[in-house]
Amino acid sequence: MKLSEREIIGQGFRYPIELHEDFQGLAEKLNALPKVSKVYVLTSREIAGIYEKYITKELKTLKVPFSFIYLKPGEKNKHIDRVKKVYNQLIETDADRKAVVIAFGGGVVGDFAGFIAATYQRGIRFVQVPTTLLACVDSSVGGKVAVNVDSGKNMVGAFYQPEFVFAPLFTLSTLPEKEWSCGLAEITKHAFLDGGSFLDKISKSKRSDFYADSPTLRYAIEESVRVKSGIVSQDEKESGLRAVLNLGHTTGHAIESLTQYKKYSHGEAVAVGLVTALMLSRELAGFSDSNFQKAITLMKQLELPTVLEEKPDLVLGHMEHDKKKEGSSLKFVLLEDFGKPKFGVSIERKTILEILKRQRGKF
Ligand code: NAD
Ligand code: GLY
Repeated sequence: MKLSEREIIGQGFRYPIELHEDFQGLAEKLNALPKVSKVYVLTSREIAGIYEKYITKELKTLKVPFSFIYLKPGEKNKHIDRVKKVYNQLIETDADRKAVVIAFGGGVVGDFAGFIAATYQRGIRFVQVPTTLLACVDSSVGGKVAVNVDSGKNMVGAFYQPEFVFAPLFTLSTLPEKEWSCGLAEITKHAFLDGGSFLDKISKSKRSDFYADSPTLRYAIEESVRVKSGIVSQDEKESGLRAVLNLGHTTGHAIESLTQYKKYSHGEAVAVGLVTALMLSRELAGFSDSNFQKAITLMKQLELPTVLEEKPDLVLGHMEHDKKKEGSSLKFVLLEDFGKPKFGVSIERKTILEILKRQRGKF
């Protein structure tokens, strides 16, 4: 059953983002796409192990053949080296330009399958069927697709929008606890960027209010999608405004790479990074102390990490590897207030170091 729908409209693209109870209705949406030759479900064995039988039951009502292509799970497999194998699987099974790819999984599968769709025969259509909370609220929306190369994450990619997003929320019932933190961190980021009633409402919630079919979860996904679509509609290719979605990501990416992607999930690292960004905002952008306390209280209610455990100088070193470096300063997204982000703010490294030292072992 369809639970809700929002349309994202930008320059040259327009598609629905739908929340559903389960897979019912997915085949009908695919059948409605014009001139489809075949459907490929790109997923991981982990996700297929739990959900293949359910999605297969739905896809049996497709008017065209479908088959599965299995990707190895985990960030390390969202890699350029894995791409060739999938192209070959498509070529060997005569995939033509009318084939459609279903990206069925979390952000790793979504980014990878989207990259395959964006590049195979110069681009074939794809749809996003997200199965993690992060993918529902963030990665399935907005058309960033990418793979990693040895020297860095998401270094090769495209802006390539799906035909539609179809989120079967019952799949979240099997999501491991750590993955909930990922999605909750991005929801918190969206609430900070938006302010208003979204932030007020989730500020009254606690982590246990978020579970697969809870009203709080559905509300938070719908609101997150509203915030993200609103931003992407105005600036698909991140020439400006879309950069605000990187709130918390400068420290987040630094501690992820510093700990070799083993200690933190992406969302946990972003949560720590949100605190750095808010401390800098309080110092440099007039973000009030009461707002800061409200933000920390919410993050604690959601059981998100806020403490910096890594050495500040090492974190700064990893930030400097990031593309946001500019002379002796680094670019950050700050908040003047909830709902009032500022992007591209250059901050001197000594100020960042000072803040990281204050964040270490605190909160
Ligand atoms: P993920 O895709 O690695 O999924 C996390 C784990 O959960 C995996 O082991 C996966 O197999 C498992 N899983 C997925 N769905 C499940 C389910 N329903 N039940 C049980 N287990 C399930 O992680 P993620 O957090 O979804 O995505 C992270 C990726 O997203 C990163 O590569 C990041 O770069 C990317 N990302 C992209 C964007 C974008 O705009 N394109 C935005 C944010 C993040
Ligand atoms: N996740 C950041 C973006 O989509 O721009």
